[in-house]
Amino acid sequence: MNMPSRIELRDAKFEVEGKAILHGLDLDIAAPRIGIIGRNGSGKSTLARLLVGLVAPSSGDVRINGHDLAKDRRAALREVGILFQNPEHQIIFPTVIEEIAFGVGQLGQSKTEAAENAKEILARFGLSHWENAYIASLSQGQKHLVCLMAIVAMAPKLLILDEPFAGLDIPTKAQLTRYLAHYEGSLVHITHDLADLEGYEQLIWIDQGNIKMTGARDDVIAAYLEAMHALGGDDDLADLSR
Ligand SMILES: Nc1ncnc2c1ncn2[C@@H]1O[C@H](COP(=O)(O)OP(=O)(O)OP(=O)(O)O)[C@@H](O)[C@H]1O
Ligand SMILES: [Mg+2]
Repeated sequence: MNMPSRIELRDAKFEVEGKAILHGLDLDIAAPRIGIIGRNGSGKSTLARLLVGLVAPSSGDVRINGHDLAKDRRAALREVGILFQNPEHQIIFPTVIEEIAFGVGQLGQSKTEAAENAKEILARFGLSHWENAYIASLSQGQKHLVCLMAIVAMAPKLLILDEPFAGLDIPTKAQLTRYLAHYEGSLVHITHDLADLEGYEQLIWIDQGNIKMTGARDDVIAAYLEAMHALGGDDDLADLSR
């Protein structure tokens, strides 16, 4: 396993049209496996986009392994990869092989090398027969898997997974879990299913655009569950509309 990637946030704020979505986050963390939990709309996916530099903070500083990725897009290609919650936000090409080959091509591989690489990753997942499939003809879960293969083919040092198992069937999820367990780089995994975070050292709990708690997995889960059960007892979903 590689050196864990370092994630540093200094008073990082993110606003859209004057509305604060992330309020001054501070964080300095380096662990091979980090989980992010929190309620719907708390800001997890926004934080993911901030970490990979797809958006810049409205103020403050975000650095991955010392790089400001919103400014340094070349470094971003090597340092980070993101699997979006919605595969439709990721896919650009008509066929599976083109989609997977594109990312590795961006890293400077020739067309032939990139295609070879893409075939290799398909073979590793036992999906060589998908090579020339039209992505539009795949199911939602299958599209998700294509996006994941495209990202892991690039072997980023830090891989951000936003609900990577959503919509996947049990054997596919098991296959992916095994694959990710051996991933050399660092993983940041956003999920509502706490069981997915088995073996994760550190957890970050996001609540209403703030970091509510960071720490060892079991401590954060215990505090989170207590808070969630208290809320569940209230039977009040009003927070969702905030
Ligand atoms: N581009 C945007 N414009 C306006 N509001 C936004 C934008 N992006 C996110 N938001 C708002 O920011 C808040 C956080 O959204 P985000 O998608 O980060 O939540 P999340 O924690 O990933 O939720 P979920 O668990 O449902 O995926 C929400 O209230 C959302 O409506
Ligand atoms: Mg989200």
